[in-house]
This record gives sequence, C-alpha cells and structure tokens, in this order.
Amino acid sequence: MNNSVIVVTGASRGLGLELASHYALENQVITLSRSKPPELKNAWHIECDLTDPNLISAAFDQIIEKYKRIDVLINNGAVLKTSPLVLMSDDDITNMVETNLLGTIFASKHAFRQMVKVRHGRIINILSMSHKMLVIGDSVYAATKSAIEVFSKILNKEGHRFNITVNNIGLSAMPSGMLDQIVADHPEKIKQIIPHGEYASLKSILNAIDYFCDDENRDIGGQTIYLGGV
Ligand SMILES: NC(=O)c1ccc[n+]([C@@H]2O[C@H](COP(=O)([O-])OP(=O)(O)OC[C@H]3O[C@@H](n4cnc5c(N)ncnc54)[C@H](OP(=O)(O)O)[C@@H]3O)[C@@H](O)[C@H]2O)c1
Repeated sequence: MNNSVIVVTGASRGLGLELASHYALENQVITLSRSKPPELKNAWHIECDLTDPNLISAAFDQIIEKYKRIDVLINNGAVLKTSPLVLMSDDDITNMVETNLLGTIFASKHAFRQMVKVRHGRIINILSMSHKMLVIGDSVYAATKSAIEVFSKILNKEGHRFNITVNNIGLSAMPSGMLDQIVADHPEKIKQIIPHGEYASLKSILNAIDYFCDDENRDIGGQTIYLGGV
C-alpha cells in the first residue's frame, strides 16, 4: 500500500504500533488509543478511548475533516483478561466487551459511512485463535472475537456494492503486548496451543493485510486468515 489513509486502533504499543510504524513509511496513518505512541513521521495520533462511542465518533469526525477519506481501518485495539468466568470481575467483562467488540463496531460504522461516499474501503479486524482453540479462561475474550467474525461477514455483504471489503486476521500469538505476562510466566505453554508450534511473524500479518487491501481483491471479503495453522 502507498498513499493511503490508514486508521489503526490500539496503536500505542504492541502489534498496533508495529503496523502503524510500517504503514507510516508510505502512507498517512492515524493512530487511536488512550496513550500516545512514540512520534512517527506521517502519523497523527488522536487520543481515543474505544469504550466511549462519543469519543470514537469525534475522532472519526476529525479524521474525515482533515483527509476526506479513509482507505483502510485496522481494528486492532483490544484488551485481554484471562480467568475462569466465575472469578472474573464484572468490570473486566464489561471492559473486554466494550473495547474489543463495541469499539470495533463503532469504529467500523464511522469508517464505513465515509467509505460508502467514495465507493472504496477496506476494513481489517485483528482476531485471535481464542474462539478456535477454546482455551479455558478465554471465554469472554473469545466471545468478543468470534462476534466480530460474524459481524464482519454481514458488514462485508453490506459493503460489496460500494467496493468495501471486511476481512479478519486470526492471530495465533506473538510475544509482545497483551501476551507478555503469560508468555513470561509460561514460555512454552502458548506455543503448545498453536498447531504450528511457533509465534506469528509480523511479516505474515503484514502480507495478509496487504492481500486483503489489494484493489484487485474486492471479491475477497468476509474471510479470516488464521495464522499458526489454526
Ligand atoms: N499478542 C498476541 O499474542 C495476540 C494474540 C492473538 C490476538 N491478538 C490481538 O492482536 C491485537 C493486538 O494485540 P497486542 O498484543 O499488540 O496488544 P497490546 O500490546 O496489549 O496493545 C493493545 C492496544 O490496544 C489499545 N487499547 C486497549 N484498550 C483500549 C481502549 N479502551 N481504548 C483505546 N485503545 C485501547 C492499547 O492502547 P492504550 O492502552 O494506550 O489505550 C494498545 O495500544 C489485539 O486485537 C489482540 O486481541 C494478540
């Protein structure tokens, strides 16, 4: 991709920051998160809490006012709390649903509306292997990610006549961000869950995003590429 306007949610650290850093080399990137990422050339940060629909709406108003278009939205921002449901606090449950699921839905709504106007757009959601591998402790997190997968298939159908596609990347695991603590405590445990037995590479994730964003691939929508042999 080059010369595109790309919005990345949850880009203050981890995978989102890697994606923003990469795409900012040849595109205009807008990052949305509560804390500020490091300064990047060609990137504009808007402080935004994905649990607040009004802040999401205001952020997209600013983006559209400035750029008039959004070529790509990468819904990456998310939180993970791992715990058997009965031990999980109500706040953690609410936060996961609001951040992961509702944050993705509201961001997609605002981006989609603008994409319709210019008859072009690509929405990519970063999912996980959680709802495929059914790991104990991941019930709420997995529910948010699997709900996004269904959401994406219908939104993709709504978008087809406007040359908008919605696709997903089912990330296995990478030793950064939200898995840091789990990886640090049980370095081999996560790899044992991944069929390929190794962490996802950033290059594979970038390749999958580029594939979905290719202008020629408007017929590839509502799909999920799972990494790690999931
Ligand atoms: N790491 C893995 O192994 C793994 C595996 C499978 C799937 N994934 C998925 O990959 C994506 C990135 O994961 P990661 O490991 O890079 O996570 P991370 O390092 O924990 O980063 C999460 C990002 O989401 C943002 N975020 C969290 N709550 C937010 C809120 N309320 N409002 C706005 N932004 C919020 C954080 O920014 P602020 O805190 O500054 O707001 C941060 O930039 C997620 O969708 C995750 O589910 C990761």
